[in-house]
Amino acid sequence: MMCAVVLLLVILTDGVCCKVCSYQDVLDYLNLTADNSVFKLTRPVLDHTHTTVVKLDIILYAILSVVEKTQTFVPFIWASAQWKDERISWDPAQFCGINMVSIPKDLIWKPDLFIYEMINKDDSPKNPYMFISYDGTVFCDEDMKVVSTCEMDIHKFPFDTQECTISIGSAIHCVEEIRLFPFSNSSRATQFSREVMKTQGEWEFLQISVNNFNVSFEDKTWEQLRYTISIKRRPLLHVINFLLPILFFLSLDLASFFIADSRGEKLGFKVTVLLAISVLLLILNDILPSMSNKTPLIATYCIVIFALMLLSLLETILVMHLMEKNSQYQFSLWDNHGDNHGDKHEEVNTENFNTEDEKQICCSCICKASKKQHELLPVVEEVNNSCQLGESHVLLLILDELKKLLKMVKLHFICREEGVKSVHWAKRINRVFFIFYSITVLLFLSLIFIEWNS
Ligand SMILES: *[C@@H]1O[C@H](CO)[C@@H](O)[C@H](O)[C@H]1NC(C)=O
Ligand SMILES: *[C@@H]1O[C@H](CO)[C@@H](O)[C@H](O)[C@H]1NC(C)=O
Repeated sequence: MMCAVVLLLVILTDGVCCKVCSYQDVLDYLNLTADNSVFKLTRPVLDHTHTTVVKLDIILYAILSVVEKTQTFVPFIWASAQWKDERISWDPAQFCGINMVSIPKDLIWKPDLFIYEMINKDDSPKNPYMFISYDGTVFCDEDMKVVSTCEMDIHKFPFDTQECTISIGSAIHCVEEIRLFPFSNSSRATQFSREVMKTQGEWEFLQISVNNFNVSFEDKTWEQLRYTISIKRRPLLHVINFLLPILFFLSLDLASFFIADSRGEKLGFKVTVLLAISVLLLILNDILPSMSNKTPLIATYCIVIFALMLLSLLETILVMHLMEKNSQYQFSLWDNHGDNHGDKHEEVNTENFNTEDEKQICCSCICKASKKQHELLPVVEEVNNSCQLGESHVLLLILDELKKLLKMVKLHFICREEGVKSVHWAKRINRVFFIFYSITVLLFLSLIFIEWNS
């Protein structure tokens, strides 16, 4: 008796536990086959006035590239959608508790969602399956590389923050037929994206925010979900590659004011620095788009610094011109009176005419001249004596000599006045320009960095 009960129990439990269900049983129950077009053709509602509610979620996996030149933004996103298919339902209890079945994506109807900003077809591999649930909910996931267009404001490049939008909507179904809702709100999407974000590269992900929009055309309205992705550029590379070198060149140009004005070395130095900057400007041309409604600060930065350095180059040329003028005075002086004072001509020529020494040369000339005058005075007295002795011939000779000397001394004074005048002017211009230049550079740099920071 006992044995029979046990046997019965064993048979009964065996029968329940060993009822085998397969996913195919569910599909057979639903009559969901590849050639059954009932599930594919129309929006899955039993009453046509029902709206299909699509819940969407987007998570940002990676920022693949941001190209300012072509204004494209390429994120890698994970998008998931869920909606209700009213033709699908089964009782999980009848199928050993199966409440979800994965089926190929092309077996049933899907909402015709598309991304408005997408400019290239996504060619990344597709996930071929989706889930259907016993109550008719369909879950569909997709990883995709979105090549989207994004209007970027590069005014503050490279300290800029960009906002790119991804708008998702139905291509033909209006708001009465398909409603779109975000599955997770902005802060949840931001948090999820932060957690899964793999590569950010040059860009730092700030946040993702989601909004509903209604787009109306004639008397129809379509609903859109707009995801706004905010990203911030990491400026370090551009600072090291671009901003700092230009600053270095500028400081070199400032330092070149302390190079002696002579010999044209300063001019060569400044021209070299200016050329180096223009090479850097070529790099800028590669990065920035040519169309832009607001001039990028970096362009202002380059152009103003370039202009300042050009100005300082022109100033150096002017100063050199003034110095040249001074040495020309000296040359002409020595050329006129070299015959009479051959020894001095030689002496001065060996001095190389350094503009720095010009003043000294002039002074020493005067000194020598006045010394000679002093030396001559006793001679004059001697001549006076000999004049009394009636040697008028010697007197005339010496008078002639004195006249020449007087003339020479006058010319020396002219030389000194003209030369010292131009040297003086050159030095004054140099000093004033240096002060002006330093103040302008400081003002400009602080202004532009404030603007960049704001
Ligand atoms: C299942 O679908 C096929 C068409 O693919 C149809 O001929 C058949 O009658 C359907 N069966 C049921 C039970 O609805
Ligand atoms: C869009 O239109 C629908 C239906 O008229 C409405 O319920 C919804 O609030 C609208 N959304 C916005 C953002 O205006």
